[in-house]
Amino acid sequence: MSSRGTFTNKFGFIMAAAGSAVGLGNIWGFPFKAANGGGGAFLFIYLLCCFILCFPVMITEISIGRNTTKNAIGAFSKLGFQNWKFVGFIGVFCGVMILSFYNVVASWAFGYFINLSIGNFEIGNHFSDFTKDINIIIVYAFIFMFITAFIISKGVTKGIENASKIMMPALFVILIGLVLYSLTLPNALIGVKYYLIPDFSKVSISTIYIALGQAFFSLSLGMGMQLTYGSYVNKNDNIVSSAMWITLTDLSVAFLAGFMMFPIIAYMNNGTMDNVTGGPGLIFVTLPGVFQTLGAVTGSIVGSLFFLLLCFAALTSTISLLEVPVAWCVDELKLNRSFATWATALLIFILGIPCVLANGYSDFWTNFITYGGKETPTDYLSFVNDFASELLLPLGGTIMTFFAAYIWKTKNMNEEICSGYPNYRGSFVELFLIFTVKYFCPVILFIIFICTVLNKFFGIDSVIFLKLLFKYIKYE
Ligand code: TRP
Repeated sequence: MSSRGTFTNKFGFIMAAAGSAVGLGNIWGFPFKAANGGGGAFLFIYLLCCFILCFPVMITEISIGRNTTKNAIGAFSKLGFQNWKFVGFIGVFCGVMILSFYNVVASWAFGYFINLSIGNFEIGNHFSDFTKDINIIIVYAFIFMFITAFIISKGVTKGIENASKIMMPALFVILIGLVLYSLTLPNALIGVKYYLIPDFSKVSISTIYIALGQAFFSLSLGMGMQLTYGSYVNKNDNIVSSAMWITLTDLSVAFLAGFMMFPIIAYMNNGTMDNVTGGPGLIFVTLPGVFQTLGAVTGSIVGSLFFLLLCFAALTSTISLLEVPVAWCVDELKLNRSFATWATALLIFILGIPCVLANGYSDFWTNFITYGGKETPTDYLSFVNDFASELLLPLGGTIMTFFAAYIWKTKNMNEEICSGYPNYRGSFVELFLIFTVKYFCPVILFIIFICTVLNKFFGIDSVIFLKLLFKYIKYE
């Protein structure tokens, strides 16, 4: 066994990587994007994004990692392409930025878990006071980062793998329990209908890139995280089937999360589904109010279980985000793992402090920047989220597939996939992966990336860009 550590078996890897994928994004991102983007219609687009755009990117990342047994940056030099190390640097930077705000949001969930376990439902009416109370939030954020770092310092097998093997099944059990409970509430069916009945009038071009952005974030792609975990995977494991399991697990948690949330909302609104918004307001304001109506005992059990679920989901994701820079420090800077872990975690915790201040405490960080044709300024936390998750991840995915197809070459990637998957040669899967990695992903991801930039950051309608593009292609 190498001193870097390895996952003991395929199951260990799947749990760890699915743990990374299943996170806050599944629970508060997916269900609401689905409902706002046309229910079943969105789901269909989302499934396409996952399987034809994201799945090949995941396999690309995992095979680069396993082939080189190196971190997100070192992998490129090990393959002999020094100039491509920048992709890894963007990835590590992106991971650090994502972790810096993700940890803060996770710490809210952690704070709520503690408050609801002791029956303090009032917290829901004071969400903005809660996030503004920076002394307490900093303590929660510190504890959350501390737990993350503690797991990472234990290494790949004893830390990441063992923690994921406990938390992921626990998460599933809690989720199923909460879904069953939700479905028994009055008006549950109205919520389910609202979630799933397709409404094509809500689908537009932007639905596609909202779905893609969500899928990228949710599957933890585009910043070298799957690459880093891939570097701990055994040569005899079948990467394609592991990636399939990871994708399916992530999808099912996102899908089930909707069955947990919408019946609760329908119950609370007495069967009307107007003005449903997602995100922090719903999770941290509305839901605690609902839990309260369930009575002191049931409410505090259901409520604290819900926030425990969020904490588990977040923790298996924060560890994966921290592992990316730590693996780099260990491989390339030859630092001792424990030192690298604590130092990086401390640094990211400090980088996250502006995110703590960005929720009404400090005017500077709260009204940080105005862009995308919006009237009101965006706070620092949301800005980092937009920038790192919606901009850098799809960009990373584009470059990564381009690199695998044209620089490293699909031939080498295929050879890597073959190890652990002897029937791969000549199979439909091989054809599919060659086509997507070579042509489909780099091109489509890049076009969607441009649309996102135009729309999100410059407020320009991406339809204009697409029309121009098609005109150009016609004249060529
Ligand atoms: N996938 C996680 C979620 O849905 C977040 C996450 C963890 C992530 N690691 C990542 C996102 C790496 C992008 C890249 O909440």
